[in-house]
Amino acid sequence: MSHEPDTRVRQKVRLPELTAMRQRGERIVMVTAYDAPSARLADAAGVDMILVGDSAGTTVLGDRSTVPVTMDEMIVFTRAAVRGVTRALVVADMPFGSYQVSEETAVANAIRLVKEAGADAVKLEGAGRTLTRISGIVDAGMAVMGHVGLTPQSATLLGGYRAQARTAPAAARLIDQAVALERAGCFAIVLEAVPAVVAEEVTAAVTVPVIGIGAGAACSGQVLVWHDLLGLSEGPLPRFVKAYADLHAIIGAALREYADEVRRGVYPEPRHTYGMPEVEQERFASRHPSRKR
Ligand code: KIV
Repeated sequence: MSHEPDTRVRQKVRLPELTAMRQRGERIVMVTAYDAPSARLADAAGVDMILVGDSAGTTVLGDRSTVPVTMDEMIVFTRAAVRGVTRALVVADMPFGSYQVSEETAVANAIRLVKEAGADAVKLEGAGRTLTRISGIVDAGMAVMGHVGLTPQSATLLGGYRAQARTAPAAARLIDQAVALERAGCFAIVLEAVPAVVAEEVTAAVTVPVIGIGAGAACSGQVLVWHDLLGLSEGPLPRFVKAYADLHAIIGAALREYADEVRRGVYPEPRHTYGMPEVEQERFASRHPSRKR
């Protein structure tokens, strides 16, 4: 494991570079981020794409699902993440309700994420009516990432947060969906929670990068949610999550130590406080006799 900062040339990642990486067999690294300091850390670590996911609803806002997330919230998260990035390509999720109703609203909301918040691309879930929304957004001049397999915005319809395409007909449908997403103009596709053998076939069926999450190692790249990757999430996690740190424990210990030092009067120490010139102290004391030495 390398602890060194990424020293690759810090040129902005663009779509042709991602396609070239897939062609060279170089795996693409993506992680979610919802604020500037996190995005800055991911960017400095050499992550290729940052996803401002609507997972912010569960990871940051405390919702039970991604469904309640609004466009205005996504604008705030995306703008913050964009400010932290110089190299990575920033993809913003279109939240539930922002693209389902009509092509016009889909295009208008995609424009907000690109123009107001500074996203490089947007991501939409599904491959049914979403296809016309995707081609509409691409026609309007924006880059779109698809998302099939487990699509959390429609988890209720899918029977919950569970692996998809586990039967031969469902796997065949998934391949058709991925091909349709590429035809609609997606520059890349997120493939979530599907068997590794199916993900391998999906990846082979398209020419655009396929970014897996719970889809095995044969995809063109991987994405993980920030809080899962860093050990900040609580409760049972999907089997595909690997935590590379235990920040929950580290932050908890730091907060307990802080609380303990405040209560014992140990913090702040003199080095954490501001001084006052002697002459001003004298003047101050003369006006406030209780301060006389
Ligand atoms: O919202 C999100 O974080 C996502 C990832 C799970 C791919 O869509």
